[in-house]
Amino acid sequence: MDWGLKNRLSQIIKPQNNRALMLAVDHGYFLGPTEKLENPKKVIAPLLKYCDSLMLTRGVQRTSVPTSTNVPMVLRVSGGSSIIGEDLSQEEITVSIKDAIRLNASALAMSIFVGSKYEHQTIVNLGKLVNEAEEYGIPVLAVTAVGKELGKDARYLSLACRIAAEQGAHIVKTYYCDNFDKVVQSCPVPIIVAGGKKIPEIDALQLTYNSIKGGAVGVDMGRNIWQSANPVAMIRSVRHIVHGNATVDQAFKLYQTLCNEKTQQSKPQHKSNPPTQSKPQHKPVVNKK
Ligand code: R5P
Repeated sequence: MDWGLKNRLSQIIKPQNNRALMLAVDHGYFLGPTEKLENPKKVIAPLLKYCDSLMLTRGVQRTSVPTSTNVPMVLRVSGGSSIIGEDLSQEEITVSIKDAIRLNASALAMSIFVGSKYEHQTIVNLGKLVNEAEEYGIPVLAVTAVGKELGKDARYLSLACRIAAEQGAHIVKTYYCDNFDKVVQSCPVPIIVAGGKKIPEIDALQLTYNSIKGGAVGVDMGRNIWQSANPVAMIRSVRHIVHGNATVDQAFKLYQTLCNEKTQQSKPQHKSNPPTQSKPQHKPVVNKK
């Protein structure tokens, strides 16, 4: 593996502990304005300093991420279908390697749809993307997408992850499942776990904990962070597990503490000596004209 590729990988999976916290905000590429991600700039701004890398599309990167950031970008380069279209699995590579380099991408991400109608097309596209990305020392993250008709069990996910790794993906993103350690053991490259649909905070923390215990390098989490009632508290609590080796209880306590602090800060401040007489608090506006 070339120096550049290793270096980019080490920006995403931290070499000191082999862990990664990726914040996923790429959902709009097929879902449009996803709930609570309607304004990506506002969502990303307070969370950026707590993630190791950001997974996004070029449109969101150019419009919604400050150019001064030193957070590595995992750039989604596949697309072509929408949630209301005929088949989500019909994806192609939509971003050129030149544009990815202009965007200073630390990795390229694309989905493969193993077992779907467009399985062949997406797997071949992964191989081709690896060919091209390797030329420039850019790692490729393969997303093992699951459709309505596809399972999320260890048998299916092991198959999908292994195929991605065999095509040369440098990281594979998949889902947590029962017997997840089997998925990890049969995949020769690092696995990162997607958060999935919004679930209660404590369950998302448990998912994070289980994923790491099962051998994943970390999580690539979106909805369970920015759809949380308190996204900053949530990402910090997820981080507490990924990089602080916290238990689920410790991480959830942190979440509650941060939520309480936020509530206290947002309470109106009362003066220590409130006025004894009931005077009007605001002077009437006088029109000086
Ligand atoms: C989904 O298509 C995207 O690739 C997301 O990045 C991925 O699903 C992770 O986001 P979430 O935690 O919301 O599932």
